[in-house]
Amino acid sequence: MKVAITGARGLFGYGLTEVFSARHSVTDLGHQDADITRPEELRAVFTEIGPDVVIHPAAIPDLDVCEADPERAFLVNVTGTRNVADAARKVGAAVAYISTDAVFDGKKRTPYTESDPTLPVTVYGRTKLLAEGIVREAAEHWVFRVSVLFGPGKANFVEKGLNKIAVGEEWIVAADQLGSATYTLDAAEKIREVVEARRYGLYHLANQGACTRLELARRAAELARLDAGRIVGKPSREMGRRAVRLEYAVMEMRALQQAGFAPPRPWQDALEEYIRTLQMPEGKDGAPACDGGTRCSVMQRLNGFPGWRWGARRANSGAEVLVTRIWMNRRRRALSASGPRGLASGDCAGRAEGSAVQRLPGFERR
Ligand SMILES: NC(=O)c1ccc[n+]([C@@H]2O[C@H](COP(=O)([O-])OP(=O)(O)OC[C@H]3O[C@@H](n4cnc5c(N)ncnc54)[C@H](OP(=O)(O)O)[C@@H]3O)[C@@H](O)[C@H]2O)c1
Repeated sequence: MKVAITGARGLFGYGLTEVFSARHSVTDLGHQDADITRPEELRAVFTEIGPDVVIHPAAIPDLDVCEADPERAFLVNVTGTRNVADAARKVGAAVAYISTDAVFDGKKRTPYTESDPTLPVTVYGRTKLLAEGIVREAAEHWVFRVSVLFGPGKANFVEKGLNKIAVGEEWIVAADQLGSATYTLDAAEKIREVVEARRYGLYHLANQGACTRLELARRAAELARLDAGRIVGKPSREMGRRAVRLEYAVMEMRALQQAGFAPPRPWQDALEEYIRTLQMPEGKDGAPACDGGTRCSVMQRLNGFPGWRWGARRANSGAEVLVTRIWMNRRRRALSASGPRGLASGDCAGRAEGSAVQRLPGFERR
């Protein structure tokens, strides 16, 4: 199957690309490759690719950014989705749209199902709901509503928070937002199953179980062996955010189960796997420790599991925090299935980020 993925350099786009490219021919479209607010450009790109399916996570997902600039939010999230849907129809492709729990009002106290009425209370939620409506006009479509995402490829709620407490700062988290959490790779795998089966429709999709942001943060810190005492829970109204946050956004995956698909594993298990893939190798003078070869200290550490641990260090007398993120790509599944010993030196594909970090030859993402 030929698959085109919009917003492919984003957090979910990365996970979708990873998972779909294992079984399908994928074109990962970053913002520069295809701006969804430019219909002609999009049509030309889709015509060239000829996709069977377009997966569309590209959006402005930040609630506060959308609240501050509703016009831009509308342009990207609504008009952009209209452009994607139109261009897909022209080339005969089905569309899988990534939506959100923010289409609800958060007033319920039992899990939201796909048939519950929607009533978004934010600009972001309203744009996503309008976009759902556009995608649902097509006969062959899927809408997947996901919630708080974590996963490899881009710093996210979990990783940003861990980075803070790793360097001794506080991680302030909402204590009163109960919802679902979604590991991008698990969600992407489920989307792949549903898309391959051509079971069109609207689906709620997250890891099983409910948690507050605070519970998610604390569990992540424990798994990373960091000081969970640095996590401070606060009522979300005291966090000075522009957009309202939902107190309750737990989603039941009724449609998935009715269609015969098993829901993704519990969020705790997914989080454990994700935390394992985050590494902080010790570098010298700001250089990443991994050279991708036999002396790769990341691999040495992994091979010495469970001795590896989260760490961070300050470069330039604390002025800059050097954050090196290493993640396992193609062999990540092997890591969780068989433990680090299932990996050979050189299987590590990493990327280093940080002001003092240089990318080393042979260190490209695979
Ligand atoms: N993150 C969450 O917790 C969460 C929760 C529920 C639902 N969702 C939904 O999941 C989807 C993916 O979210 P995410 O967290 O992966 O977001 P993300 O990391 O910000 O990725 C979104 C991508 O869309 C791209 N994009 C923005 N404007 C574009 C344009 N005009 N043309 C083409 N690409 C454009 C961005 O590129 P640039 O950065 O270069 O602009 C970015 O790479 C979104 O639809 C979001 O609404 C996310």
